Amino acid sequence: MERGRELNNNKLNDLYSREWIKFQKSWFVHRPARRESDVLLHPAKFPEDLASEFICFFTKRGQAVLDPMAGTGSALVAALQEGRQAYGIELQARYADVARERLQRTAEGLEEPAAWRLEHADAADVATLGFPPIDYCITSPPYWDMLRRKGFETQKQRREGEGLDVYYSEDEADVGNIDDYVEFLGALTAIYREVAGVLREGAYMTVIVKNVKKGGTIYPLAWDLAARVGEFLTLKDEKIWCQDDLRLAPYGMGNCWVSNTMHHYCLNFRKQ
Ligand SMILES: C[S@@+](CC[C@H](N)C(=O)[O-])C[C@H]1O[C@@H](n2cnc3c(N)ncnc32)[C@H](O)[C@@H]1O
Repeated sequence: MERGRELNNNKLNDLYSREWIKFQKSWFVHRPARRESDVLLHPAKFPEDLASEFICFFTKRGQAVLDPMAGTGSALVAALQEGRQAYGIELQARYADVARERLQRTAEGLEEPAAWRLEHADAADVATLGFPPIDYCITSPPYWDMLRRKGFETQKQRREGEGLDVYYSEDEADVGNIDDYVEFLGALTAIYREVAGVLREGAYMTVIVKNVKKGGTIYPLAWDLAARVGEFLTLKDEKIWCQDDLRLAPYGMGNCWVSNTMHHYCLNFRKQ
């Protein structure tokens, strides 16, 4: 793509005019590339190239990126590849180990050294981990306890694959194990409040999340989080990630309206 013109005094990022405008569209279609085998263990990861686009918009080279629920480290690998520093937290040792190995491998292949750290810890403790002030946070939480739901599509598909996790853990600190929706929302919001504390003034935070359906009821997780986190970080807007590579299921056919939900909300907040 033609990059357009260089932006004088660009305070936010290193993009040129055309790259900047392209990112401003409020929706995008993204087809993830095939994943490396070591990340397949994890049941819900987002693609590195998607994370890269957000990181390149919301930071300049050399700045610090955080993912407090890092999983197998996709966002942090993308941060290093884009010449940023990468800081992360993951509650599950087996995902933290994979993330560390990937970060180590990525760091070794860089022309210029970049700082990174991945802590095996609870994201609620982010303030105690001694990270530097964070310039941008990009993260995705467990979508409530959906992975634990019997018959959930991901479970059916993954049970057929050998040794792949169907849900994250049995850990009490894993917010994906809280079955009460309001309690789950409260715990997640409390974690983001801690994250807000380590962001520098003016920094952005992107949360990738979906509304969820359970037992015929819609729980507007994305909208509820936007409202709750919006009480302490300014909600800027959302970008909608549209998926057009998933199979359609005939939910409710001949009977009632049930959507095939093929979009995620990338909620953008700012500390200001
Ligand atoms: C949707 S996944 C994140 C996936 C990640 N973006 C990736 O691409 O691999 C959510 C992650 O949050 C972790 N998690 C849940 N509760 C946590 C907590 N209290 N502190 C840190 N991590 C937590 C889970 O173990 C899981 O790996």
